[in-house]
Parts: sequence; structure tokens; C-alpha cells
Amino acid sequence: MKIKIAPSILASDFAKAGETVEKLEKCGADYIHCDVMDGSFVPPITFGHQMVEGLRPHTKLPLDCHLMVRHPQTHFEEFKKAGADIVTIHFETGPKSLIDRLKKIKSLGMKCGAVINPNTPVERIFDCVPFADMILVMSVFPGYGGQKFIGETYHRLEKLRSYCIKNGYPEKDIEVDGGITEENIDSVLHAGANVIVAGSTVFRSQDMAKTIERLRG
Ligand code: DX5
Ligand code: ZN
Repeated sequence: MKIKIAPSILASDFAKAGETVEKLEKCGADYIHCDVMDGSFVPPITFGHQMVEGLRPHTKLPLDCHLMVRHPQTHFEEFKKAGADIVTIHFETGPKSLIDRLKKIKSLGMKCGAVINPNTPVERIFDCVPFADMILVMSVFPGYGGQKFIGETYHRLEKLRSYCIKNGYPEKDIEVDGGITEENIDSVLHAGANVIVAGSTVFRSQDMAKTIERLRG
């Protein structure tokens, strides 16, 4: 499966966001991961669709917008207009409405993803697999960069990849987000993830291009 590296700009200087995404594109990133936080679903507030609109002219890479917001469905059109390519929404914001919301994102012409927190049983997301272009398994509790990877995630990724294989979706994109380093990347890939979010690891490195290349495993 193709491995895609999605650096999160959360760990970068927001005042230089345009330059940053240009640099990430030159350094071999596959996606730009945009962490949208509303101060309610998660404590911090980061940015919304206007940031995405500002980034759009600076890169051709897909903008992967991870919505950590309590009412994601009220923002889909704004993100579409801003130039978002992928919108991912949390299972925990509305399990019953999740599939309808995924369909809504797709109907607007974007790719859709379902996100699951570390304390939600991974099996709960299985019903979404046919409807989501990507499943994002959180490997930390959302809200902050620079946290430690939760070891139980390996087992969750294995279960999800095995469900996808058994049910006719062997190539489903499985994204993992939080605490990814050059030390744990091989185990994360081995467990079944193929879209890798990395914030601190990319932005703390002296050579972003080399780090991105190493994260391919
Ligand atoms: C956490 C965010 C992550 C975060 C990852 O809520 O969803 O995308 O930026 O940062 P690192 O790679 O530093 O754990
Ligand atoms: Zn994220």
C-alpha cells in the first residue's frame, strides 16, 4: 500500500503557515494535516476554514482537515469553499449521524474520514468503513501536539486493518495521529496504518525532507 506522510502544521509557527506548507511540499509531504479545534470538543482553539483558505494558494497537496469540533456538520460547506480536500470528523461527535455526515462531505466533492478516540472501542467504527475514504485512529487524546503514543493503538490498528481486509476493503486508507516518531513508525506501519500524521517529529527535526523520508519506514 502507498504510505502517505501528513505533517501537522499544529507544531509550526502559524504566522508563517504559507511558507511552511510550501516547504513541506518541497520536502516530500503527501498531505498537509490541518488540526481544527474549537475549544469545546477539545480544550484548545486553533483555527478554522479561513486558515485553510489562506493555505490553499500555497500548495497543490491535499489539505487534510481534522475537525476536532463539537458540531462538524455546520462547517462542511465553509471547508469546501476554502479548498479543503479531505474532511475527517470524530465518531464521538455523533455516532448515530456519522454515516449521513460522511455522505454529506462526499456529496460536496471532498474525501471523507471518520476519526476514533483512544477510549472508544475500535469496533464501533467498523460500520463506517464502506462509507469513509479513510479511517483515522487517534494514538493520543486529541487536543495537543507532542504527546506520547498510546501503545494500545497497535492492537487497534491491527483489528481495523484485519476487518478491512476480511470485508473487501484491503486498500482502505488508515490514518494514525499522535506521538509518531522515527522509533515507532515501523511498528505503526506494520500494524496496518498507511497515512501517517506527524507534528513534532517533522517540525523539531533539523532536516524535514530526511525526516519525512525516514517516516516512510
Ligand atoms: C492532536 C492532533 C495531532 C497533533 C499531532 O490533537 O490531532 O494532529 O498535531 O502532533 P504530534 O505528532 O506532535 O503528536
Ligand atoms: Zn490531527
